[in-house]
Amino acid sequence: MKAESVKITDGVYWVGALHWNTRSFHGFAIPGTTYNCYLVFGEEKVALIDNVFSDGMIDQLNARIEDAFAKEGREVNIDVFIQCHTELDHSIGLKETIDRFPKAEVYASPKGAEFLEKQYHNYSDVEITTVKTGDNIDLGGKTLTIVSAPMLHWPDSMFVMFVEEGILFSNDAFGQHLCLSKRYAEDYDEGFILNAAKKFYANLVVLGAPMLRMKLQELTDAGIVDQIKMIAPCHGQIWKDPSKIVKAYSDWATGVCEDKITIIYDTMHHSTEKLAYQIAEGIMSEGVEAKIYFMQEDFESEVVNDILDSKAIALGAPQ
Ligand SMILES: [Fe+2]
Ligand SMILES: [Fe+2]
Repeated sequence: MKAESVKITDGVYWVGALHWNTRSFHGFAIPGTTYNCYLVFGEEKVALIDNVFSDGMIDQLNARIEDAFAKEGREVNIDVFIQCHTELDHSIGLKETIDRFPKAEVYASPKGAEFLEKQYHNYSDVEITTVKTGDNIDLGGKTLTIVSAPMLHWPDSMFVMFVEEGILFSNDAFGQHLCLSKRYAEDYDEGFILNAAKKFYANLVVLGAPMLRMKLQELTDAGIVDQIKMIAPCHGQIWKDPSKIVKAYSDWATGVCEDKITIIYDTMHHSTEKLAYQIAEGIMSEGVEAKIYFMQEDFESEVVNDILDSKAIALGAPQ
């Protein structure tokens, strides 16, 4: 197949896959998604950060890799694989890619290496080098620095900071389940993209909020937040201006709420529904935003999106 890469800065290309028609991710209702992977060209080595999910996606990845190397005028050869997280949507294609470039070095967190070796694909024949915060991978004139990020959102998760260009490759963190034609958050309406990021956070990252607060503090104290010029996650849009999504993550992790109450109910003969409607009337009469979800019909992934920034929730169920 033919598929183009997208140059995001000097020597860095998006080479991910577009999964236009997927509609569910762990029960999370989604309008498609992307599996973002990035090629970083150093003077001596080329690194691929993360991988893709399923066969059709691997074809896209391979085609975009060919395209990126053609644009750089270099012979196709990947020297370094960095696997920031091993959940299947980012790792199914890895073994095939490693088989294609068997001399490449493979890097993952200690948990990532354990998961790859034992849990998913029987990687016992692949040598994986484990890395942690502060470790550098030198590509020749380009440096990738590891930032361990356990529980953001899995025990194996880690980020990669491309020092010279200030790009944070953040894997699932800061992502969105969206499948759009253009690659940057700033190509679309800000509220639309931030709401997709909120939904992703509420469904997949929220349990790591204490770790997120510590990580944001650690990155701020180390001066890394000030160095980040772009955040490139593994799903959805790339943040050219990282300040808005970093502020949003900080707000969500510290419980900043809207002036909003969410009512969640189930009903058998509409009695609980009547109560829910009446409670909504009371909320609205105080000038407060009311949201209502009927659990027989609404998606849980939408419900948690509103719970995240509600000042209160009201639950109702029949006996
Ligand atoms: Fe994940
Ligand atoms: Fe993911």
